[in-house]
Amino acid sequence: MKKNLAILMTTVLAAASLAACGSSSTPATTTAAATEAATTAAAAETTAAAEDTTAAATEAASEGAAEGNGEIVEVPKDFTTVNAGKLTVATSPDFAPYEFYHINADGTPELSGFDVALAKRIAEDLGLEVQFVPMDFDGILMELQSGNVDLGMAGFSPSPERADTFDFSDLYYKGGQSFVIRKADHDKYKDYAAFDKLPVGAQNGSIQMDLAKENTPNANIIGLAKVTDIVSELVSGKLEGGFIETAVAEQYIKNYPELEIAWDVPYDTEGSAIALKKGSDLLPAVNAVINNALSDGSMDQYVADAQELASDEGNVYEGQLDADGKVASN
Ligand code: ARG
Repeated sequence: MKKNLAILMTTVLAAASLAACGSSSTPATTTAAATEAATTAAAAETTAAAEDTTAAATEAASEGAAEGNGEIVEVPKDFTTVNAGKLTVATSPDFAPYEFYHINADGTPELSGFDVALAKRIAEDLGLEVQFVPMDFDGILMELQSGNVDLGMAGFSPSPERADTFDFSDLYYKGGQSFVIRKADHDKYKDYAAFDKLPVGAQNGSIQMDLAKENTPNANIIGLAKVTDIVSELVSGKLEGGFIETAVAEQYIKNYPELEIAWDVPYDTEGSAIALKKGSDLLPAVNAVINNALSDGSMDQYVADAQELASDEGNVYEGQLDADGKVASN
């Protein structure tokens, strides 16, 4: 039932995006799948209720766990890791609900989020002990390249440029990109041109930085180390706009209702994957666990749990910890 719904939503999405292409000429290389989707699109259009359904389904399908094959597959056990018996995972905990610190009842910050839950699951299924290495996002790929960590799990978009140098797992989450402003400026900012010469934030080393350069080339683009810096500088008025992953923007807006998503930002590679060193023999095992976590419903649960925990206002922390593993005063 659940799977059928997912398939239905995928079909509706394909139909919707094709419909969005309007009357533009069909490329010579039309694939069988596209033709099929086009037929579906035409069929959907003839249904009176189709339009409503499409809108609702598009919204529902645009954010959330990806889909597995619906079956539990065997996890290959022939792999090597940088530290024997351990799965060393670099992450950047400034990105709720993917990864962030939740302050437990006893005051201890605990690394949390659905990337963290998935990393734990991968380690468990591979018979390894998980070891997280928190760092700024723009340092992760370097750590992978240097062979210091096994996986980069930080809501990575598997962009074609990155895929030249790194391997990426299958997608475990599907989501889009957003442009965020203060709610109070809702009527002031209607398009990107309004941001000419104004400070617009994006995280260093992220695809959001590319999106900023592409969409607001005349803005004063400010690169920040942490997404949470973008959030706080938007709130304080140092930034006028910011490019943020939609799931993350929605999460922080819950805790900072003075912000809002102004509009969606189209991006080709919509979804998150795990980054690995090129040629890593961990990839098949990682993909098997991702498939299993998606197929058995765990991933949905990881996402729901992470969203709930990240909404525990006042008990979420995304800065660096000090040497004692405590919340650093900054
Ligand atoms: N998806 C974007 C990218 O891959 C942003 C990821 C940022 N992750 C983080 N934990 N701050 O570039």
